[in-house]
Amino acid sequence: MKNKIYCGEINKKFINKEIIIYGWVDSYRNLGKLIFVNIKDREGIIQAIFKPKYEIAYNIATTLRNNFCVKIKGKIVERKEKNKNLNLLTGEIEIIGFSLSILNKSKSLPVDLNINNSEEIRLKYRYLDLKQKKMIVILKQRSKIISYIRSFLEKNKFLNIETPILTNVTSEGSRDYLVPSRIHKHNFYALPQSPQIFKQLLMIAGLDRYYQIAKCFRDEDLRSDRQPEFTQIDIEISFIKLEKFRNFIEKMIFNIWKNIKNIYLNKFKVLTFKQSMKDFGTDKPDLRNSLKLIDLSNFFNKKNKNRIISLSIKKKHLYNIKIQNLSKYINFIKKYGTKDLSILQVHNNKLINILNIKNNLIVNLNNENVKNIIYKNNCNHDDIIFIGTEIINDNMSSMGHLRKKLGKDFNLINDNEWSVLWVIDFPLFQKNKIGKLVSMNHPFTSPKNCFIKNIDHFFKKNPYQIISNSYDLVINGYEIGSGSLRINDYKLQKKIFNFLKINKIIQKKNFGFFLEALKFGTPPHLGIALGLDRLIMLLTNTNNIRDVIAFPKTTSASCLLTRVPYKINANLLKDLGLSYLL
Ligand code: AMO
Repeated sequence: MKNKIYCGEINKKFINKEIIIYGWVDSYRNLGKLIFVNIKDREGIIQAIFKPKYEIAYNIATTLRNNFCVKIKGKIVERKEKNKNLNLLTGEIEIIGFSLSILNKSKSLPVDLNINNSEEIRLKYRYLDLKQKKMIVILKQRSKIISYIRSFLEKNKFLNIETPILTNVTSEGSRDYLVPSRIHKHNFYALPQSPQIFKQLLMIAGLDRYYQIAKCFRDEDLRSDRQPEFTQIDIEISFIKLEKFRNFIEKMIFNIWKNIKNIYLNKFKVLTFKQSMKDFGTDKPDLRNSLKLIDLSNFFNKKNKNRIISLSIKKKHLYNIKIQNLSKYINFIKKYGTKDLSILQVHNNKLINILNIKNNLIVNLNNENVKNIIYKNNCNHDDIIFIGTEIINDNMSSMGHLRKKLGKDFNLINDNEWSVLWVIDFPLFQKNKIGKLVSMNHPFTSPKNCFIKNIDHFFKKNPYQIISNSYDLVINGYEIGSGSLRINDYKLQKKIFNFLKINKIIQKKNFGFFLEALKFGTPPHLGIALGLDRLIMLLTNTNNIRDVIAFPKTTSASCLLTRVPYKINANLLKDLGLSYLL
């Protein structure tokens, strides 16, 4: 196949050459003696000119309309100096069309590609939306990043192995999507939440370095960085120490930033989960935000076990802010459970309740403690201190939410910096929303050695104290990847399943084959999965995951283009050959 010449790639080197181009009409002007048509393809735009001299082509050109798909044969010439358009990459040249074929006509476009359309329209006509330069740039970057990752991993002897999509339920903590079986009535497959079990089975099979650009499916509440169907760079490896593996992933990420963005990232920081929660109220802190949670619990007569936390904003960041407007943070933080937020201003070593809102939390503070609080927050005259009780949900505390919000509202984050860190040593278990003990990561994560030795003791006394050999990669406050050392001992794995109170029948049905497999010389192994879509969001400067996926779902998990999911009735089921579902 000959190398394709794209409209946007034609330059002065082509002058006097005869070429064929394919593209879509972007705009046209009929000046009588000359017809100018801008032809667009994924790489850019070139101007074509049709003259009466080439009669057939000229006559066809008079019928062109926007978005017609055309083939043009012509000669590249240099534009006259006064006609050069330096805003176009191809603005110094044009193509004189000898022959023109309309390959297909187009209806008039329902979206104006030159303005900001609503997301609803964009997703409904996604195939037109994808013609926008911004979207093309993102998809090209995505392709380049995947290609780089593949070559990096292959050079390091990782094998690209696909795993099933129709499979058993997985344990990544979300709901599964089920697919009915025709042959086995009332039986279902599940779509994988991740290839976790299969990649571990590959280690048992001796395929000791695996990777896959894997599709994952999770039925969970969606956010701007979550999709029901998303892509992971899934990696698993045997016979390697955890720190070495983290360094390897660090090198891959460093090289991606270097190659794709020409940015040299600093050495990745490492924070334990405990420290991260303590200082930032989250397990995915954005360290570009310099605000830290200050623990003031000692200065208060506490009735409950929650910490009392302060955050402070320096006077220099308060310009343009009306003090009264600060009251919005009281409502903001109520959503996350803190009902007693005080907003105080430092005045001559005193704390002034500037909003005059009665607050029981601070009424009993003595002068000594006020001074200590001002000192601990490193505050000066006119600085603002927020004080509130910290409520934690899902590894994110109310004061952590406030820290994030203040960082954004007061412009404390330098967008040209990168915050890249490992958060390590997560607890093995956590309480879920209804108070049930569940794995914090997934049930295949190994506890640290010191806990394995006395696991029964910890199970009995305090299971929440058990720390696992786990790590998350966090960039600019996004959880980009998550991984761990795996349990490779059958007995320990079974113990964990039992302790998680996974019912014996479900254990056998969903994990029986896996427990059996663990008995066959399972090597020590570990791995990680990086969220490809989130990685691309960062590398292409967008905060909307839908921008980096060609055909994404909305936040209510539907596709506005194909109109799925859709209602199915008995007749439709019959028409689709799915009567067995009736
Ligand atoms: P985890 O569930 O943490 O780990 O997922 C790994 C990474 O995948 C990305 N991610 C998502 N991206 C978009 N939409 C979603 N709904 C979504 N859910 C997760 C995140 C996350 O860090 N099997 C383990 C990995 C392992 O232990 O090797 C797993 O899937 O960036």
